[in-house]
Amino acid sequence: MATMESLIVTVNRIQRACTVLGDHGGDTNLPTLWEALPSVVVVGGQSSGKSSVLESIVGRDFLPRGSGIVTRRPLVLQLHKTERGLQEYGEFLHLPKKKFTDFSMVRKAIQDETDRMTGKSKQISPVPIHLSIYSPNVVNLTLIDLPGLTKVAVEGQPESIVQDIESMVRSYVEKPNCIILAITPANQDIATSDAIKLSREVDPTGERTFGVLTKLDLMDKGTNAIDVLEGRAYPLQHPWVGIVNRSQADIKKNVDMIASRWKEREFFASSPDYGHLASKMGSEYLAKVLSKHLESLIRARLPGITSLINKSIEELEAELSHLGRSVAVDAGAQLYTILELCRAFDRIFKEHLDGGRPGGDR
Ligand code: GDP
Ligand code: NA
Ligand code: MG
Repeated sequence: MATMESLIVTVNRIQRACTVLGDHGGDTNLPTLWEALPSVVVVGGQSSGKSSVLESIVGRDFLPRGSGIVTRRPLVLQLHKTERGLQEYGEFLHLPKKKFTDFSMVRKAIQDETDRMTGKSKQISPVPIHLSIYSPNVVNLTLIDLPGLTKVAVEGQPESIVQDIESMVRSYVEKPNCIILAITPANQDIATSDAIKLSREVDPTGERTFGVLTKLDLMDKGTNAIDVLEGRAYPLQHPWVGIVNRSQADIKKNVDMIASRWKEREFFASSPDYGHLASKMGSEYLAKVLSKHLESLIRARLPGITSLINKSIEELEAELSHLGRSVAVDAGAQLYTILELCRAFDRIFKEHLDGGRPGGDR
């Protein structure tokens, strides 16, 4: 098991190193390698609770949230699990070497970087913001927050925005290694959910889709979502997970993450409708399910990832010897880092195989 975790850690590091490298990968297969590694994307209508769900998974308060179109650029969020006792911090690709230990400053940096690219208008941009969070309290995951699907442009937005957002979201969710978190608010008509509609289109068998039902606390009195949560109304391969995020009023009152998780747990445990499902509801459960799923995906894809990595090792060696001094020092160093990580992966993978042999100590 220890080796499986080291493999995931290494895959995560390779993914990050490829990101840092950007377009300097030369003729290598690195973009393919990036795409071969699974990531989790949140999809849903505007204000359905996408950013809130991501925050709950991370267990930290750091994303711009609110009514209207707040998320206007993709946010690629890499979570790196560090050793117990170490301080949590965030680091942006566009602000290298700057460690953010104050997470309210992370939120401000995302807002500033969004505005820098889109102006203060309500425009969107497909250029992602890359943020890494290093913390003992996270699971190794890559999560992507996207602008919300919408049906109408608001004042100041071009008419094309509806289509632009859909194309942007689609470009992420159609990748076969993308795990889709389809976010649907329980206080709206689920039959018209944008998230369900799009995920059904790109993942008809539902094997990549996790249905997430938010705002259960806002449903009309006397109604409930049992039919959805028990998998009858909209069956998916994976069970639906119900969530209660912070309300806008909670956010105004600065209700922190610990208090809001407690409130969420209370909501399910004490609910006459959902009490029997309580152990399979909530953000913490969702985070666990996702990391388990990711682990099994990486395990299943290990042969493919391994052969890609081996190919990358060869290509990187060739690229590095070929480039010599012509390449920017930084890019060269980055290629070298990726090479080292790929070699490490290969080594851990072989240990993994050895451990699996009959008589091996597993
Ligand atoms: P996004 O636009 O999909 O990213 O949605 P946000 O996460 O920004 O949330 C939009 C608004 O809905 C915010 O004011 C949140 O506080 C509120 N919200 C999100 N999820 C819930 C929920 O489960 N219950 C309640 N009461 N409010 C929620
Ligand atoms: Na919003
Ligand atoms: Mg958002």
